[in-house]
Parts: sequence; C-alpha cells; structure tokens
Amino acid sequence: MERKLRSQQWFGKTGKDGFIYRAWMRNQGIPDDHFRGKPVIGICNTWSELTPCNAHFRELAESVKKGIIEAGGFPLEFPVMSLGETLIKPTAMLYRNLVSMEVEEAIRANPLDGVVLMCGCDKTTPSLVMGACSVDIPSIVISGGAMLTGKYRGRNIGTSDLWRFSEDVRSGVMSEEELNEAEAGMCRSRGHCAVMGTASSMACMVESLGLSLPGNAAIPAADSNRKVLAQLTGRRIVDMVREDLKPSDVLTREAFENAIKVNAAIGGSTNFVIHLLAIAGRVGVPLSLEDFDIFSRNIPLVANLQPSGKYFMEDLYYAGGLPAVMKQIESNLHTGCITVNGKSAGENISKTKSWDPQVIAPADAPVNPRSGIVVLKGNLCENGSIIKPSAASPHLMQHKGRAVVFSDIEDYKRRINDPMLEVDATSVLVLKNAGPKGYPGMPEVGNLGLPAKLLQQGVTDMVRISDGRMSGTGFGTVVLHVSPEAAENGTFSLIETGDMIELDVDNRLLNLHVSEVELLERRKRQAPFKSPYTRGYTRLFVEHVEQACQGADFDFLKGGSGSEVTRDSH
Ligand code: FES
Ligand code: MG
Repeated sequence: MERKLRSQQWFGKTGKDGFIYRAWMRNQGIPDDHFRGKPVIGICNTWSELTPCNAHFRELAESVKKGIIEAGGFPLEFPVMSLGETLIKPTAMLYRNLVSMEVEEAIRANPLDGVVLMCGCDKTTPSLVMGACSVDIPSIVISGGAMLTGKYRGRNIGTSDLWRFSEDVRSGVMSEEELNEAEAGMCRSRGHCAVMGTASSMACMVESLGLSLPGNAAIPAADSNRKVLAQLTGRRIVDMVREDLKPSDVLTREAFENAIKVNAAIGGSTNFVIHLLAIAGRVGVPLSLEDFDIFSRNIPLVANLQPSGKYFMEDLYYAGGLPAVMKQIESNLHTGCITVNGKSAGENISKTKSWDPQVIAPADAPVNPRSGIVVLKGNLCENGSIIKPSAASPHLMQHKGRAVVFSDIEDYKRRINDPMLEVDATSVLVLKNAGPKGYPGMPEVGNLGLPAKLLQQGVTDMVRISDGRMSGTGFGTVVLHVSPEAAENGTFSLIETGDMIELDVDNRLLNLHVSEVELLERRKRQAPFKSPYTRGYTRLFVEHVEQACQGADFDFLKGGSGSEVTRDSH
C-alpha cells in the first residue's frame, strides 16, 4: 500500500481547510492535479545578492525544478536567511544557529514531503543541514560549486593568496595598486571560494556523508555540468520521498567517520570540526572532538589543494572530483554506508580514478603524510583545541615560546604594528575573547597577521593561539577553538604576556608553564565575564551557545522535533 504523503495533511483535506490550503496556492497558476498526491518538494534557497557565493542560485533552482517536475513532483521554492562570509558583521557564524532554526521551522510548518537544500558559502551548508536533520524528512543537498581559478599577472590565485597579499603589502613587497589588480582577478566567475576553504570543505562534507549525489563537491559553478547535477538532484529527491529515505537513514556513525577521513584526505577546513559536531548533535549520533584526531590519524593528504597544497577546486574536478579522492583512501572508508542516491559509498566510487596524480595523489605517494585535524589537550585548553598540521610549518610543530597576549581583536589591531611591541619570531601570539560566547559568534580571526617588523625581517610563520576560528582558506601554525574559551574563565583566560607556552603537536599537548599557585592568585583577581548584550538574538546566543568542542550549537537545539504538526491553523 502506498504511504500517505505528509503534504496531503494540507492539500488532501476537504471542506474549509482544504479550500484555504489549495485556493491561495492556485493564484500562482497551479493545476488541480498538483494537489492530489504528487510529492511536494521544497527548494530551500539561500539565494541572495548579499551572499555573492550564492548569487546564481535562482538560476540553479530552475534546473532543480525541471528535475522535480520530470520525476512527477511538485516543486515549491522558498527563501531562507542567507549567510555570506564576506559582508556579514560581526561574523556569519553568529547566525548559523539562527538559520538552522529558521530552516527547521520552515520545513516543518509547511506541506513538504521532501526538500532540496541549496548550499554554497560556508555557513549556508551546516545551517541548512542542521535544520533539515531536526525535521528528518527526505533531504538532499545541491551545492553551488566553486568559482573558476583566479588569475593575476600570469599566476593562478585563490582566496588563500589574500592572506599572502595582505602580508606582502604590510611588508612593502606589494603595492596597493597591485593589490587592486589582484582583487579584480580573484573572483572572476559565479561560485564560492576556489580553494579548499570552508565552503568547498562543506560541499565535500555533504558528499562524503552521503547527503548529495556523487560529484557534487567539485563541479565548478560556471560549468554546465553543475546545472545537470542540479536537475538530477531534483529528479532524485522525488524518488527519495517515494522510498522514504531520510537524513537519519544516511547519517550513521559510520558516515560521520567517513566524513572525518575524507576531510583529512582533502586538507579540509578547521571549521569542519564545529559544523560536523553540530550536525551529529542534531541526528543524535555520538561524536566527540577526539574522534576527529582518531579517525584522521592514518589518513594522508591526497588532494593537492590550497591552502594545504598547490591547486584549486577547478583542478580537483578535472582530476576526478571527490569520488576519485575517496577512491584513494577506499580501504579506510566504510564503503557500505547508504547515500541519497540509494547506492552505497563503495558503489558510488567503484568506477572512479584520479586523472591527474599531481592533483589527486595515490595514498602510498601522498602530497603530505601529515593531514587532518590534531586535537591538543593540556592545562591551557582543558577541553581541547585544534591545529591543522598540513597547513602549518613543520619547524613549529614542537615549540616553546613566550606569550604575547591580546585581550581581544581590537587590542591586537591597536598594538600589532607598534615597533615597540616586545615580540620576536619565537614568541607565541595569544588572542583572547574570540570564542563563541566572548566575541560573540566566534569570528575567523585566529590566523592573526604577524607583526609588521617581523614580516620585514622575513618571518613567515609564528605560533598563534586563540579561542576563535580561522577561515578555511587560512594557513599557518595556528591553534584554534580553545575550550573553555576566555569568557568561560578557563586557564586560557589567565595567560599573561611573558608566560611560557609549550606546543607539542606530535604528543597532542598544549601547556602553560605557570605554577598552580600563581594561576590561583590570578583567578582570584579575575572579574567574571559579563556580556554587554542584553536583548534580542545576540542575548539568546550568548546565553545558550555551547563551547567549540561541542559544535557551538544552542543547548536547546540538540536532537530534533520530527516532522509532525498536529494542529491546524484555521
Ligand atoms: Fe563565500 Fe569564501 S566567501 S565561500
Ligand atoms: Mg570562511
């Protein structure tokens, strides 16, 4: 017997209620048969001209619609708040949880049987996936694709070069005029950042979790095949509704382990950690910060992409895309995991190979044997912190240095270029109050630019530690996500300039060499954290956000509330 569609609780009704549910929809010119048993598919669109990475999504949605109609479904596109990294102040991360709530409620409240999630710029992926998981109706992701590789004076460039250019201008190697020329060449097509930054890492995350069709991660936004994939995604969601294939069927513990391993193989973003933890929390799969270290430990870096390597997302596509990356580490993966196309992860990669070993290297001759996310513990970060070794400097993996402490990002900006600042290449730059609660919203400031006077001496990397995040396009020996953050009054909040800090990546240690007695004294003098935000969403955020080691979701959003709505509105 055919299952009754959820949408029929609206459109299948007789009398006054059914009239109201259908009649107003008919003002869009919808024929009667659309209300009589066709799967209704929501297209959750993060299109916005304020989110340049997703600005092409209205056109892409047309391809999704074509596919839905071809498969016998009834598409209904709806907008949700769109989070662009480049314009939103004080940080798009402040709003990830808000959007996840909006997406969850929008899906549940409406007559939808399935949903296509249109994701691009960094936070648009986790926020939509988190929301959809908390409702748990059939859901599939289509990503917008990366931009074409940027060009500047005969060179290939991408977002990671921005950090280099910025240091070059500060050290006098590059002029403002040249910087402006680079600006014009960086973003020359539709799409999101062209390197393995957070947006691309998120596209790889959904593909490795099994939430998108195979190939989704790497097709460039400007490539016609992106539209083809969008159309196929539209076709597939209709069948997923018929099969009742839900996120909770796909997102098993094994799927999360696969995603962690794939993120290591691609040199994916550190932000992946926070977003994957939050998604796991929504589907109720136990996942800990330590899992990221454990499951990426034996995975080599096989994708040679910036910021850990040399190439760009466009090159990844031509070399075979994410399926070819997964193929290199196939023996490490749970190949039996079911994915949204109804096939297993193993079946999806069975016929793939790397077409360019420069870009996708074999696991036995990798780009870098170091990969993944290392989780550090010690008295400086009782609940952990992370570092991405593939984007760091080997000579700083074991380092002891004197702390130079900045109380917040404004303090850093005020003093970093002061010629009198007591700092040398062995110092450890410490930034406090960039955490989820303290900032609030945990901005991408952790890859602090180096002091100008050291740049002029040719210093290119230093150990930096913060309770903030860094852009997935960033690099350097940067320790991030210190938990508990400064605003939670952990040991991290007690560090003072001059203290000795010891980083030992191989042994997973991060310690502050200050005596317990002294720390106790400092704690007595410390004023408790007081947020200046007394109203509105920011107040809600500060009161309910969890620490980075738990995914920085709200404490009341764990799990899901299902898709049932028992009461009618009229
Ligand atoms: Fe949108 Fe980088 S700014 S992906
Ligand atoms: Mg970013």
